[in-house]
Amino acid sequence: MLKGKHIVLGITGGIAAYKSAILLRLFVKSGAEVQVVMTPSAREFITPVTLSALSGKPVVSEFFTANTGQWNSHVDLGLWADAMVIAPATACTIGKMAHGVADNMLVTTYLSAKAPVFVAPAMDLDMMAHPSTVANIELLRNYGNHIIEPEEGELASHLVGKGRMAEPATICAAVEAFFAGQEELKGRKALVTAGPTQEMIDPVRYISNYSTGKMGYAIAEELACRGAEVTLVTGPVALKARHQRITTVPVVSACEMLEACQAHFPDVDIAVMTAAVADYRVASQATSKIKREGHDAPELKLVKNPDIAATLGAAKRPGQLLVGFALETDNAEANARAKLQRKNLDFVVLNTPNGIDSGFGTDNNTITIIKADGTLSHYDNKPKTLVARDVVDQIVTML
Ligand code: C5P
Repeated sequence: MLKGKHIVLGITGGIAAYKSAILLRLFVKSGAEVQVVMTPSAREFITPVTLSALSGKPVVSEFFTANTGQWNSHVDLGLWADAMVIAPATACTIGKMAHGVADNMLVTTYLSAKAPVFVAPAMDLDMMAHPSTVANIELLRNYGNHIIEPEEGELASHLVGKGRMAEPATICAAVEAFFAGQEELKGRKALVTAGPTQEMIDPVRYISNYSTGKMGYAIAEELACRGAEVTLVTGPVALKARHQRITTVPVVSACEMLEACQAHFPDVDIAVMTAAVADYRVASQATSKIKREGHDAPELKLVKNPDIAATLGAAKRPGQLLVGFALETDNAEANARAKLQRKNLDFVVLNTPNGIDSGFGTDNNTITIIKADGTLSHYDNKPKTLVARDVVDQIVTML
């Protein structure tokens, strides 16, 4: 199932490192070519000889090979990889990855990798439960990494709890499932809008909203991971799309976003509108800064912005799938259903900003998917990366 795939297997210094040899065997059996990268402390737990014998390649651990002076290029390795799998991932390495502390070959390779990264944490239960570990894992998840959850059970310390590295067969199956899933949307094109729009008042001021783009970027990443070519039309946000199948089109205002969407919509099979488009813009934008001194407070006349989703909905042709989001505070379900019809959507993803850890700017979201045929599915509160998976699962079943 992993035939011809290049896997960089990163091993860090934890007791579970002995299981990495079994994982390596499983990857090779599945058809992958594996290059092992170890942190210096991992060498205390399992020898490079075992791993180079199993992979058929010298293990990389230092920036250069001491006796020959040969430079080990983390950039080349990062580009070679179709996937990077870090198993076991200790609290230390997870912290370094989350914060870009690139002081060893494994973390530099991780930072250079363009491919999907799988992280299998393994540590004692208290380390696992520490807020800094929890936050670092969350950061890695939000950067688009795949976390292979540790299991509960007896740990090396003889304490019992969550922290055991997932079994090698589970890790191998997750990577295989990822590559199998990658084919799902192969040959499909998708358009995603994300983030807020900014509506200029004058050259230094604008009207906008609290959207951070997290949900839209997660959907774009998920679509790309499943094989789609994605055009991500994004308002101003602090995020960066990582996947090579995502082409980012940055825009600022709703009118610019509409123009970019209209240019791409005719070519796509799927369009997901997650952007929080400003409903209004200033009727006449000042070309120089509005001054306070010697003037009364200006009155801003607002005009309605175009409804991008509705414009695309009106132009939708058979076979195209259009998905919208609805952020509602009151009469959520009824409003979402009305939106679905008005904008000619195939389904609407309802979320409420007043839920616990849900809505604008949060890492998590709680959604309900409402389809055009009236059926409704509720989902638990979960990270936006996993919400994106649920939304894309729905897209795949409807295509
Ligand atoms: O009407 P409302 O803003 O609540 O609708 C939300 C949905 O419509 C989202 O999918 C959003 O991206 C999209 N939308 C749009 N253009 C607008 C307003 C909303 O595409 N001007």
